[in-house]
Amino acid sequence: MRTHYCGQVRADSIGNTVTLFGWVDRRRDHGGVIFVDLRDRTGIVQIVSDPERTPDSYGLAEQLRNEYVVKITGRVTQRPPESLNPKLPTGEVEIYADQIELLNAVRKQLPFQVSTAEPESVKEELRLRYRYLDLRRERMARNLTLRHDVIKSIRRFLEDDGGFIEVETPILTRSTPEGARDYLVPSRVNPSDWYALPQSPQLFKQLLMVSGCDRYYQIARCFRDEDLRADRQPEFTQLDMEMSFMDQEEILALNEALMAHVFKTVKGIDLPLPFPRLTYAEAMDRYGSDKPDTRYGLELVDVSDLMADSGFKVFSGAVKAGGLVKVLPIPGGNEAVSNVRIKPGGDLFKVAADAGAKGLAFIRVRDNGTIDSIGAIKDNLSDDQRQTLLERTGANPGDLLLFGAGPTATVNATLDRLRQSLAKELNLIPADQVNLLWVTDFPMFEWNADEKRLEALHHPFTAPHPEDRDDLKTARAVAYDLVLNGYEIGGGSLRIYQPEVQQQVFDTIGLSTEEAQEKFGFLLEAFEYGTPPHGGIAYGLDRLVMLLAGEESIRDAIAFPKTQQARCLLTQAPAGVDTKQLKELQVASTYKPKPSAGE
Ligand code: AMO
Repeated sequence: MRTHYCGQVRADSIGNTVTLFGWVDRRRDHGGVIFVDLRDRTGIVQIVSDPERTPDSYGLAEQLRNEYVVKITGRVTQRPPESLNPKLPTGEVEIYADQIELLNAVRKQLPFQVSTAEPESVKEELRLRYRYLDLRRERMARNLTLRHDVIKSIRRFLEDDGGFIEVETPILTRSTPEGARDYLVPSRVNPSDWYALPQSPQLFKQLLMVSGCDRYYQIARCFRDEDLRADRQPEFTQLDMEMSFMDQEEILALNEALMAHVFKTVKGIDLPLPFPRLTYAEAMDRYGSDKPDTRYGLELVDVSDLMADSGFKVFSGAVKAGGLVKVLPIPGGNEAVSNVRIKPGGDLFKVAADAGAKGLAFIRVRDNGTIDSIGAIKDNLSDDQRQTLLERTGANPGDLLLFGAGPTATVNATLDRLRQSLAKELNLIPADQVNLLWVTDFPMFEWNADEKRLEALHHPFTAPHPEDRDDLKTARAVAYDLVLNGYEIGGGSLRIYQPEVQQQVFDTIGLSTEEAQEKFGFLLEAFEYGTPPHGGIAYGLDRLVMLLAGEESIRDAIAFPKTQQARCLLTQAPAGVDTKQLKELQVASTYKPKPSAGE
């Protein structure tokens, strides 16, 4: 019955009769001529009804209200010159409605205006509570279509050109080693036993390599009970891949071709290949981050050696304690950034303090290469030190130098955040630029200060760099992340396939043979039966779509997302359950609500 989608009617249909279905975006009565903007997933087209030209539909057109569902049959007509709308793809035409059929009315007061013809900002809470209405709106309809297009282009590339097959892996499973908290599901038929929802399909995809699957992929749902941020959800989707008999170079090249295909098909963007690479050590050194946004400069400069024996105790002390002194030079920063903002109480000071910094030292470069500072820095630098500092940081008169001094991780975190926030403020980020970057050679392990032991940075099946096998504690891993404009959109590694190397890794993280057997025994056993060398990667699909859509929140890339408190405002999940259900599961809650104030 339908001949066109609303957003697809064009001038080449002028003179034809079309049948459309959709929602009334809005209705306007212009002195006896009724205009209806009819909307569906694809867009909006203008419908016209008046007593002379469309007497059969006029009565109904008068009764239409926003969001009524209608079927309309009418003649496509050229709009008069004064009402052409170049902003709408359908803006050259209008449809004279010969018949209007009301399929359904709206029976309740709309919680917000669905039409976006008049700008109106709707609180996110309300959008999520009535998500089905929010999804009718152009922005979200566009994002959902984009998400679909991304997945479609991934499937085409991997299946048609790459020889990958999609295999589904279990959702009710055992704990997987991605390092977040698990979501647990009690088993009714095995009282006291629990399934964990997968944090990723990691173990199964490696088992699939043992089984000879060779090239696996999956659009896989993952679950992680972790603190949420703008780019994290408790339930999210990965494009998950694993390949046998490929080395790191082949894996990276294949993934570059995949990304190039997706960006070209979905956005028409030609990505320059190959993608640039930074080792983890370089990325931390130059940007203080393992996912640097390289669309702008503002690179950090390590001046630890220079400050090691400066008279300024904060700096020399930091270096002596095994930490760092680094500089974030801000060209033209003297004018852009006032002292008040850097001193305690100021907004930049707060950014630094939130990252763990105890203070925020700075120097202002004046004319003739003289420097100014608050406090003791400038008086404690020799002329030579000052000169070397200016040369190394490339500083010119007018520039501001922000210092981080202290433990390496804190210094990097502080200057990374300041770098990002100042780049935004100073408009240094070219909005349309797409920078994809591999970060490679991650360390195998990081120190867990709480548990006083090393733990795998990625997961314990990541292969150590062949050159670093002698001392695994400080070894690099054959692990890589893909970074897009400062976001980690994917990460993976080559895996260990030799039992002796696996044992070495377990020894390094202090995992006893019994514990390893208990946790991953099934995988280690499988590895005894002829395991091919293999490796893989997983992309955060929601994050990728968010960035391709130009959105700042991952929620805008997901049809039914959860809030930062991990709640679904639409279904009110999570929610209490019947005591009967809990009894059946033999689960009891130890939760005691806090007494409310006044009790
Ligand atoms: P990793 O833990 O790095 O690797 O996850 C891969 C990618 O998934 C995305 N991601 C998330 N997206 C939204 N919400 C979250 N809570 C979230 N957590 C992670 C990120 C990340 O780059 N099994 C390994 C992959 C492998 O080794 O092949 C894994 O899951 O974009």
